[in-house]
Amino acid sequence: MLLAIESSCDESAIALYDIEAFLSSRSTLLESLLDHSISSQIILHQEYGGVVPELASREHVRNFPHLLEQLFKKNRINQSDITCIAATVGPGLKGCLLVGLSLAKGIATSLSVPFFPVNHLEGHVLSALLSAPEISKDSALKDYKENENIEDQIFPSLILLVSGGHTQLIHSECPGRYEIIAQTMDDAAGEAFDKIGTLLGLKYPAGASLSKLAENGRRGVFKLPIAVPKDSSHFSFSGLKTAASRLIEKELTDIEDDLRDQVRADIAYEVQSSIVKALTDKIDKHLQSLSTALKPMPKSIIVSGGVAANVMLRNEIRSLSNIYSINVLIPAQEFCTDNAAMIGAAACVHIKRMGGLDKINYYLPDALAHPAVPRFPLDSVSMTHGMGR
Ligand code: KG4
Ligand code: ZN
Repeated sequence: MLLAIESSCDESAIALYDIEAFLSSRSTLLESLLDHSISSQIILHQEYGGVVPELASREHVRNFPHLLEQLFKKNRINQSDITCIAATVGPGLKGCLLVGLSLAKGIATSLSVPFFPVNHLEGHVLSALLSAPEISKDSALKDYKENENIEDQIFPSLILLVSGGHTQLIHSECPGRYEIIAQTMDDAAGEAFDKIGTLLGLKYPAGASLSKLAENGRRGVFKLPIAVPKDSSHFSFSGLKTAASRLIEKELTDIEDDLRDQVRADIAYEVQSSIVKALTDKIDKHLQSLSTALKPMPKSIIVSGGVAANVMLRNEIRSLSNIYSINVLIPAQEFCTDNAAMIGAAACVHIKRMGGLDKINYYLPDALAHPAVPRFPLDSVSMTHGMGR
């Protein structure tokens, strides 16, 4: 069994996979996920309006022993059942990464089992493989079979990675190979949700609550710019943040109490629409340019990261995928924000591609010496799974 550990920011999380069943194709990735749990520190950091790194590291130290004890008890396993440990090595807060990483290395050493380092962003991307593709209208892939080589049915893929720290459009030929097509020049999409949400009086992290507030909002009451920079091959959200901040000040200062909630909801609706449109427009433009140049289209669109939990974004991507007849993979809500199931998923997928657990030491002889890497771009990820060796 594989134990996965995630501690890059403010969630302490662990997951347990029956990796042997996955490697022998007895079960799909999702069926192999036996259990996962998350201890969120959100309440602790809320009063500071953001994550306090030192507090987060200390909280991880406190949380992991309980999480591990509960996981072992609940699943009636003991240490000797563990055959591999995977943990996030970056990107993230250094102190936080070190807690999970040291724990993982310690367990791997004491049990003499291999350690598998995982890039957090790749965890987000490959968490999409925990769900079956949503087959779009007119797709060539009508008879998707879960146990047949899932990767052949999904890759090459166009990936939208949208989290609190990242907004990237990525082309991927296969797991492990990522080419960044566009990324944000300033704030990430999640950051834009969080910062504008805070201006609307919502607690950090404000993405989910801004989206909830927008449910009562009316379309077209306010107009905000769609966040498209001059160099329109990239993303930018700082202009939207400035415009939203002006709008909030203008509309909500000295407003009568009984009007306040509706105006907040109308602004939230417009903010959400503007962010979602900036994201989907970029995908649309990219697919259009491939189609015009008669270049091969991706087999799927993957949307992942915390912002992938946003219902409006999920629906807009589905509409787009129907226009281009491309299947779409979006993780279930519980796997969108930080969790350890995604870290285990990335490890399981790569270990299978390597040829099994006994190949880890060949491909990654220095895995136990892998440092915590606070800045770790997705396109340099092949170093964590010995690709090209
Ligand atoms: O991936 P994630 O959990 O952490 C990072 O690795 O950054 O993403 C967290 C981000 C936060 O900015 C949060 O506000 C945003 O995801 N988020 C949402 C929703 N749920 C979480 N944004 C918009 N709508 C949501 N439903
Ligand atoms: Zn994340």
